[in-house]
Amino acid sequence: MQKIKINLEKNSYEIYLGQGLLGGIAKLLPEKYSTAKLAIITDSNVAPLYLERLSEQFADDPSRILKIVISAGEASKNLIVAGEIYEQLAQAKFSRSDLIIALGGGVVGDLAGFIAATYMRGIKFIQIPTSLLAQVDSSIGGKVAVDIPSGKNLVGAFYQPLAVYIDPQVLLTLEDRFYFDGLAEVIKYACIKDAALFAKLEVCQGRTAIQAEIMEIILSCLKIKKHYVELDEFDTGERMFLNFGHTIGHAVEKCFNFSKYTHGEAVAIGMVLITQASEEMGLTCKGTSEKLKKIITQYQLPLNYQQEQLPTNVFQEKLLTAIAVDKKNLKQQLNLVLLKEVGQSFLHKIKSEQAELFLR
Ligand code: GLY
Repeated sequence: MQKIKINLEKNSYEIYLGQGLLGGIAKLLPEKYSTAKLAIITDSNVAPLYLERLSEQFADDPSRILKIVISAGEASKNLIVAGEIYEQLAQAKFSRSDLIIALGGGVVGDLAGFIAATYMRGIKFIQIPTSLLAQVDSSIGGKVAVDIPSGKNLVGAFYQPLAVYIDPQVLLTLEDRFYFDGLAEVIKYACIKDAALFAKLEVCQGRTAIQAEIMEIILSCLKIKKHYVELDEFDTGERMFLNFGHTIGHAVEKCFNFSKYTHGEAVAIGMVLITQASEEMGLTCKGTSEKLKKIITQYQLPLNYQQEQLPTNVFQEKLLTAIAVDKKNLKQQLNLVLLKEVGQSFLHKIKSEQAELFLR
């Protein structure tokens, strides 16, 4: 088992990474929770696979376990579902000395973390991420949120978990599409800061080869995430580097109503489009976008969006509007993350109206 500490003064915590770790979580929990009530929040996809394996570890006193299973999917990440869960916690008399456990992918982690941040003004929680995307990204760094009709993640907090437990074996049950969805974030980390990781991804041909190296791959991503989260817990500066591909990616997700492309697919499109443009502008070394496109294709991710409904220029306007209202768009300025080359990134400030130059 590997351990990585995220150093954030009083909000510091350990990430535990190990094959088969899910079977031994009870032994790793802090002693003070040995008699506490535990609310396991999971979803309808993960529950049949892993809920029993987790909850049976507390079989000595099953009465202290509250199992909460939400419907799988982003549609559950809202204040109505949160409200129902607050009520269940209150009915079961959960107090601040009890614990919430998020067992699932990004939706479960964000929702359970948001509930933990707000129930009784804050109750501790742990993350057990079960998707690759959650294992390398969303379970680390304390961003928790729900969606509201005006937008995704618009209500939330920075609320760090007590610990994160990552078991790469649970990835074996992911559908290919969602495995590769997570790999888009792995490619992102490699692009912004780790040329050796990029080279490893180039050598691995497909999912089986990736899974054989998954401990090292996840570890490399966690080290990069640690670096940026420790520098900038509240996302006001350096942490923006983690948004490579996300400015256009978020807009693509939004313009397709969060249904056509997964987050990772949209980020893949965003990484390609921005790197093609920055290379044409002479800001990125020649050949970088070709390397990127090759690896994106290798892992079955899209290079560009496909839309049939609207003429290209009308759709681009829609994308630009989505970029302009992104919550990271500060004072009409956009901080774009660009690549100097694979493994080296830099921030490039532009005025919002210049965004169209990067969408051609
Ligand atoms: N997912 C990007 C961040 O945590 O800042």
